[in-house]
Amino acid sequence: MSSISEDNAKQYGDSGKLAARARLHKEYTVAEIGWFAWVAQQLPLKSGDRVLDIGCGPGWFWAATTRLLLEGLDLTLADLSPGMADEAMKRCQSLPFGSVRGRQADAAALPFDDGSFDIVIGMHMLYHLPDPAVGIAEMYRVLKPGGFLAVTTNGVGNLRNLYALTTVFGSAPVDPAGVAFGYDTADQLMRSQIGNVMFAQHPARLRITDPEDVFLALTSYPPGDEASEAQLIEFREAIANAFEKGNGVLVACPYEVVQFQS
Ligand SMILES: C[S@@+](CC[C@H](N)C(=O)[O-])C[C@H]1O[C@@H](n2cnc3c(N)ncnc32)[C@H](O)[C@@H]1O
Repeated sequence: MSSISEDNAKQYGDSGKLAARARLHKEYTVAEIGWFAWVAQQLPLKSGDRVLDIGCGPGWFWAATTRLLLEGLDLTLADLSPGMADEAMKRCQSLPFGSVRGRQADAAALPFDDGSFDIVIGMHMLYHLPDPAVGIAEMYRVLKPGGFLAVTTNGVGNLRNLYALTTVFGSAPVDPAGVAFGYDTADQLMRSQIGNVMFAQHPARLRITDPEDVFLALTSYPPGDEASEAQLIEFREAIANAFEKGNGVLVACPYEVVQFQS
């Protein structure tokens, strides 16, 4: 059985599997402000800043928030997956930033000199590292003195009633990302390595109306993506029961947070 820190190439060779999970948030979030716009509000970006986004994925954040950000940013979009770094670069290179470069890079051994960036961001990715503390140390190393480091992750209670359905695959009834690097762990690791850490939580909930989107999201990663036919039938039944209980709607609370240091 794969763990959350293995099989990056299979999970993130391209953005297909990630899109199945992102769809839940994109289609069903009820919030005054969407996730990406809310994160953008937390970042003290200044025109001309050198910014590293490590584990950038397909670059959706930058494409979604371009109009909220200052022009003139010097963006480095880096990801362990060459396919993701490439997709991010293609998506963002024509956007009105000062400059954009894509780079294949491992957060555990960043190929950048000490003190290279004004802002370093790692969004929903440190839970994939075998040792997230190494990733935090690397992000801090490449940050300029007085720079700003931001990390986003899920709490262990993220979408609790959705993850409860995954017990049919033999999984624990919790978000594996929150278990590997939930905000308690993030808080503790960042405080012990860095000191001055602040924390904010995105106020939102999901109101899901299509059971198929739950099925696709929760079978997009291990072990659901390797489930047997019998498990998948049982899983569909569990989802149907959950929607029936909610009169056709499944409401779940995401515990998505941003944690930052200045
Ligand atoms: C859940 S996605 C998040 C994508 C993007 N940051 C976002 O929030 O939309 C996790 C990303 O982290 C990348 N990743 C996983 N392990 C990594 C590592 N050791 N170094 C750099 N990127 C990594 C994956 O390839 C994937 O693109």
